[in-house]
Amino acid sequence: AENRTFTMIKPDAVESGHIGAILEQISASGFKIVAMKLTQMTQHDAETFYAVHKERPFFGELVEFMTRGPIVAAILEKENAVEDFRTLIGATNPTDAADGTIRKKYAKNVGENAVHGSDSNENAKIEGDFHFAGREQF
Ligand code: CMP
Repeated sequence: AENRTFTMIKPDAVESGHIGAILEQISASGFKIVAMKLTQMTQHDAETFYAVHKERPFFGELVEFMTRGPIVAAILEKENAVEDFRTLIGATNPTDAADGTIRKKYAKNVGENAVHGSDSNENAKIEGDFHFAGREQF
């Protein structure tokens, strides 16, 4: 749907105790949570989810990072969700992220960057369906 996006609070932000603050900022910004769970990706999960990046030099590091501990996976609903959520999280590299964005506040570096946000409506649907069965999407 054009009004939904998919997010993960990544292992770095979960380890650092930022789940509550990040969910608070997401809610305060007008996003409704329509699916959510604490889960841990297996190596196979991460290699599949990030298959588009498999030729990148950082692929191994990315898979290792994303599997090292629990994440919060969620589907969010809001008008213009994909674009508005990417504005809320800020640039991939926190040094480039605008003040007040989630990555500016909580990301450690370009790899350990606290949160994921889908980059298109098509990928939002694919990524949400990767993590949630239909009956888990409200
Ligand atoms: P995200 O945009 O959510 O999905 C792809 C991820 O790859 C990105 O977040 C970062 O976590 C990671 N990534 C992107 N660029 C680099 C990089 N140069 N070095 C390490 N990890 C990266």
